[in-house]
Amino acid sequence: MLTDNFGRFHNYLRISLTERCNLRCTYCMPLDGIPLSPKSHLMTYEEIYDIAKTFVDQGVNKIRLTGGEPLVRKDVVTIIEKLATLPVNLCMTTNGVIVDRFIEVFKANGLRQLNISLDSLQAGKNKDITRRDYFQKVYDNILLLAREGFEVKVNVVLIQGFNDNEIADFIRLGKDLPLHIRFIEFMPFDGNRWNMDKLVSYQQVLSEVNKNFPIDQVIRLNDAPNDTAKNYMIQGYRGSFAIISSVTNPFCDSCNRIRLTANGRIKNCLFSSGETDILSPFRQGEDIKPLIQQALGSKKKVRAGMERLEDFKKQGDATDNRSMIAIGG
Ligand code: GTP
Ligand code: 5AD
Ligand code: SF4
Repeated sequence: MLTDNFGRFHNYLRISLTERCNLRCTYCMPLDGIPLSPKSHLMTYEEIYDIAKTFVDQGVNKIRLTGGEPLVRKDVVTIIEKLATLPVNLCMTTNGVIVDRFIEVFKANGLRQLNISLDSLQAGKNKDITRRDYFQKVYDNILLLAREGFEVKVNVVLIQGFNDNEIADFIRLGKDLPLHIRFIEFMPFDGNRWNMDKLVSYQQVLSEVNKNFPIDQVIRLNDAPNDTAKNYMIQGYRGSFAIISSVTNPFCDSCNRIRLTANGRIKNCLFSSGETDILSPFRQGEDIKPLIQQALGSKKKVRAGMERLEDFKKQGDATDNRSMIAIGG
């Protein structure tokens, strides 16, 4: 079983399928891109299945596919079909640009939960942050997924002076639509020009909510076990909203997540710089179970050792962690 030294049981595996993406979000990818792993270093679909199965045999029951953008991988349909045969809740985080092409594949394979990134409700601002012009497409796709009965979470990374004035607009989307909006505190990754002044904190989101909605209509919901988010709703709304406060209020005590990068390395924490290569030993026929245990054994209690906010402030974006695009969130 995948239990670490702090008694946390890991039943949620996040698999990055690719380091490529059809957007260029400034907070996710450095301006000059990242060096891509050679194709031969990436897991094939057979390897993804076999490695995922090893995790499932040890208790993993939720797999989230991430990237880069998972849907730009050529064999993504085969990967979904293979992983759907495992006894897991299979879900995906995507930028939503091409999800409309996969609706039937998702349905046929029981993939019902999609988290979609959308950082502004204004086309121009979206273009600024993603460096591509797909706002309308993503927005329409979110509505399409909701209409088709998928469980849709909209991930909004908040950046001070950029989209902090859209918090109420995003929440109002939930008035008539069954969407779950999640405001995410901006986090530092290699080369993403993070600094503390750009952070919109959990507290700031709550005060913005209190300014825009009558306080007795703001309802704090119960959070699911191991949830990254603190959940709320406005009375009478179909949708809900939440805050993911990894920076000001980490939720590491209940961490149940382990990550597998597209080139077959385990990251035991979103912020860990050390990685454990399991793909090379797997290719040599080694049993990877002890390696997975070892990787978990070195997992730190909080944010790969960066327990205090000061640790983030000191480090800024000069981290030896990878860029988000190569981690998958
Ligand atoms: P659900 O399974 O729907 O709860 O989604 P999720 O929050 O696990 O995944 P998603 O890919 O939608 O990530 C949303 C945000 O939460 C991203 O900014 C992630 O980086 C962040 N996040 C996801 N998992 C972790 C984690 O283990 N630790 C921290 N600190 N942040 C995380
Ligand atoms: N800080 C916070 N969230 C981020 N994401 C990507 N980069 C960052 C960052 N620097 C989010 C994306 C996506 C999710 C997987 O992670 O918006 O929705
Ligand atoms: Fe888990 Fe690391 Fe995220 Fe904390 S920061 S919740 S330990 S992955």
